[in-house]
Amino acid sequence: MEKAFYKKLIENNQKWVESKLAIDKDYFLKLSKGQQPPLLWIGCADSRIPANEVIGAEPGEVFVHRNIANMVIHSDMNMLSVLDYAVNALKVRHIIVCGHYGCGGIKAAMGNQHIGLIDNWIRHIKDVYRLHHTELDTIHDEEKRFDRFVEINVIEQVYDLAKTSIVQAAWKNNQELHIHGWVYSIRNGLVNDLNVNFTKNDELDDVYQLTF
Ligand code: CO
Repeated sequence: MEKAFYKKLIENNQKWVESKLAIDKDYFLKLSKGQQPPLLWIGCADSRIPANEVIGAEPGEVFVHRNIANMVIHSDMNMLSVLDYAVNALKVRHIIVCGHYGCGGIKAAMGNQHIGLIDNWIRHIKDVYRLHHTELDTIHDEEKRFDRFVEINVIEQVYDLAKTSIVQAAWKNNQELHIHGWVYSIRNGLVNDLNVNFTKNDELDDVYQLTF
């Protein structure tokens, strides 16, 4: 059974290659020449939110970083490396942090259950709860509080992106770079743009604003 599943993946790959070549025989040759995606996507690792498909992007059109609960943690070398490469080498013009309603990472952060090593990742999300507990604690309906926490976490991650030296340096150099916060709905496939759009660092608290 499992072997059949695995074999199917290879077959699917071959069919996919054929379908692309049927439309354009140079499809992979063109892609192999390089990439210049205009967009960096920072999303949740959840299997239900495939970045490219959700926004109708073809290969070559979106640079992607995904982790549990779409976190922007400023000591995460993986995220920082992706961000640095996207901004400074690829010169993306937009960054979207995309969370999603029903996110397991956010749900775990609302609870107290010990899960394992992941508790330490989830703790970053708990910090977001603590920052916004006055608003969140007024929402008594648990589902509504969950949804709002998902949104607040995305907003906080957008702020965290804006705080990075990478993004602030790009703005300082007058590089065009817009950062956005979205929440995707697993129930209907639509994204909710939270309208947290940044193009400069002056909306950050003073303490975070870097001078160059
Ligand atoms: Co998630």
